[in-house]
Amino acid sequence: QQTACIFDLDGVLVDTAVYHYKAWKQLANSLGFDFTHAQNEQLKGVSRMRSLDMILEWGGIRKSDAEREELASLKNSWYVAMISKMTAGEVLPGSLELLRQLKQQGIKIALGSASKNSALILERTGLAHFFDAIVDGNAVTTSKPDPEVFIKAAELLDTAAAGCVVFEDAFAGVQAANAAGMGVVGIGDAENLKGAQIVIKDLSEITVAEIEALNRFLK
Ligand code: BG6
Ligand code: MG
Repeated sequence: QQTACIFDLDGVLVDTAVYHYKAWKQLANSLGFDFTHAQNEQLKGVSRMRSLDMILEWGGIRKSDAEREELASLKNSWYVAMISKMTAGEVLPGSLELLRQLKQQGIKIALGSASKNSALILERTGLAHFFDAIVDGNAVTTSKPDPEVFIKAAELLDTAAAGCVVFEDAFAGVQAANAAGMGVVGIGDAENLKGAQIVIKDLSEITVAEIEALNRFLK
């Protein structure tokens, strides 16, 4: 059974996590409070509206639906201003080399991201052409840790879930990959990524052979 790779975007292929953090922090500060790095960790992989709701709860602030929509678009306008200036230099270490090798070996590649801004980011960083399928926040109705985003990606790649290996920097994403019955490589600190089969610092630390060994048909 063939192996396919499904990559999260923010914090795995590109260094956008820092922009999300800056924009959310600016929003919280404008409402008169702040949140910690540990709290920020919980926002990773989580949809825009769900992130806003978590932040408002941390600040003990209640807002109407109309105000929530406004705050979310305000945050997004700051975020988009930052990512509009991104360059290929913000692709994380090892990403390009690994994507090239996977392509060379005929392994299918999908994006599985919660972001509604994935098209802009892939275009700015020159990564778009690597993907056989793109599933992002515009294509799903439920957020990670629900497995919907990865299940859709596997369907588009015409690959069974057990043959898919997911790359994730968010705990919610690791949970989603496990719920989908896929292999999962964690990117970042092992303590934040319980449930991943291996955890690496960045994509320069893994080879195609090591990825193929995570194909669950081989277990
Ligand atoms: C995820 C990020 O990839 O996308 C989250 O980890 C973010 O931090 C989510 O909230 C939604 O992104 P966007 O670009 O649609 O606001
Ligand atoms: Mg991520």
